Amino acid sequence: MRVLVTGGSGRLGRSVVSVLVDRGHQVTSADTAPAQLPAGVETVTADLLDPAALEEAFARARPEAVVHLAGIAVPFARPDVETLQVNTGLAWAVLSAAVAHGAHSAVAASSPTVYGYNTPSWAPRYLPLDEDHPVAPWHAYGLSKSIIEDTVRALARTSPTCVLTCVRPGYVVAPEEWEGAPTQQGHTMAERLADPALAAVSLFNYVDARDAAELFALVIENPARLRGGQILNAMAPDPLAPGPVDTLLPRYHPTTAGAAAALADGRAVFSSEAARTALGWIPTRTWREQLRATTDQP
Ligand SMILES: NC(=O)c1ccc[n+]([C@@H]2O[C@H](COP(=O)([O-])OP(=O)(O)OC[C@H]3O[C@@H](n4cnc5c(N)ncnc54)[C@H](O)[C@@H]3O)[C@@H](O)[C@H]2O)c1
Repeated sequence: MRVLVTGGSGRLGRSVVSVLVDRGHQVTSADTAPAQLPAGVETVTADLLDPAALEEAFARARPEAVVHLAGIAVPFARPDVETLQVNTGLAWAVLSAAVAHGAHSAVAASSPTVYGYNTPSWAPRYLPLDEDHPVAPWHAYGLSKSIIEDTVRALARTSPTCVLTCVRPGYVVAPEEWEGAPTQQGHTMAERLADPALAAVSLFNYVDARDAAELFALVIENPARLRGGQILNAMAPDPLAPGPVDTLLPRYHPTTAGAAAALADGRAVFSSEAARTALGWIPTRTWREQLRATTDQP
């Protein structure tokens, strides 16, 4: 299948491109930044906010499916207005072009930050957090992702031939980051595991980039198993912590105290059960075996 990946040069995008190539797809990556990508991948260096460049990318890729990852990927990395404008503008432009160009599926990267944790008043109705749990974004990045989810639902209402969906990857860990390369926050994975305050910011969630990439591949390969506008969480099955987080989580987020008892069996704070049920997605790379495989384990 011909697949256009936006943001294919990024932390997650490089794994998405590799996994799609390994599964036999014909991949075009469009990104403002260059990257070393597998042989056979066509690259388009373009700012996709430029309408002419966007059209050129679609004309070259002629995609049957689109994986939209491009954007500002970290909260507070850029001024708020820029984060909102870039992320929401890109999503509308890329996803509506996917529909207009006849793609049969298009999936965008959202984020668990849409749930709105890290405010003093945020309290989950229940744990683990699934896709039915209400969202309550509070910063520009989380809001941009919530608007992207609404964009997907809006386009899905009038796009009978293109199944539009969103995936919410957890804290993405690229293969080299298990081996000690700095993560998106600048620390290593071993440091993130050793200091619970670091992982508590994202409620101890994480996902290996290759596992997340496999879910993106399953989504575009199986549009008939999904409904337009569907949202799927994509997190590892366990928390990024040495043990269960039923008592650890309330230490950093006191309003979770009642609901956190449900995590005593060692499960993650987020549920990715919907992706397993719909597509058979089972993330297999956990921090225990990935860090053990390196010399970086504390
Ligand atoms: N990394 C995570 O932990 C995480 C978690 C949840 C969701 N996400 C989302 O997944 C996606 C990918 O994240 P990532 O970690 O790979 O980010 P990244 O910053 O490594 O990659 C994003 C890519 O988008 C490209 N890009 C930005 N603006 C562009 C534009 N106007 N035109 C073309 N390309 C543009 C960048 O050059 C970059 O290569 C993002 O949408 C991010 O919000 C990431």
